[in-house]
Amino acid sequence: MQSMRLVILDKYDDVSVWAAKYIRRRILAFKPGPDRYFTLGLPTGSTPLGTYKKLIEYYKAGNLSFKYVKTFNMDEYVAIPRDHPESYHSFMWNNFFKHIDIDPANANILDGNAVDVQKECDDYEKKIAAAGGIELFVGGIGPDGHIAFNEPGSSLVSRTRIKSLAQDTILANARFFGGDLSKVPHQALTVGVGTVMDAREVMILITGAHKAFTLHKVIVFNDTSLYR
Ligand code: GLP
Repeated sequence: MQSMRLVILDKYDDVSVWAAKYIRRRILAFKPGPDRYFTLGLPTGSTPLGTYKKLIEYYKAGNLSFKYVKTFNMDEYVAIPRDHPESYHSFMWNNFFKHIDIDPANANILDGNAVDVQKECDDYEKKIAAAGGIELFVGGIGPDGHIAFNEPGSSLVSRTRIKSLAQDTILANARFFGGDLSKVPHQALTVGVGTVMDAREVMILITGAHKAFTLHKVIVFNDTSLYR
């Protein structure tokens, strides 16, 4: 049976410390090694930045290693160059991967420039399965409640695929493209809701007053006692 735990903390920094400690605890308890990799699902966005900073601190202090960790990112824009400053490849490399000891070959991110995008998505699902599934999927949500780039209305059993971004998401993400809506990619490759839900555990980070109503909706939706 799946259950949801809600942890409410006062400040953004408290969320970052809590999340980073939790991730560290899960990785250490797993005792990863050459024949036993810990698989971690990861998001982009401003929300997890503090968590990544803390994890980098733990690595630098010798309290955590990513040598035997495989990561799978949630999503990537379609058709912006991999080295574009706002690509999720750049985001992950600059904000996390280049600061830790992960083997770049183990840091998986969808290729938004693949010629055959559906094949790229199908292969991603196969790679996750070959890695033994995701142990802990960390995610964020957009102001309209999207997880990765699964916009409202996405099927709860959806798998990795191409999605068009909702106007709300294009507006929300324009801040990363100099406020210019025309520069925000309109499509992305994203893991599905089903892909996330297959993980052994999911941790969604939600911060900021602008997401309070969305959080309220998430809790009401998950409170199965309301359906009885
Ligand atoms: C993007 C990403 C989501 C992320 C969301 C929220 O749309 N695809 O995975 O959760 O942004 O970003 P932020 O944390 O900056 O609010």
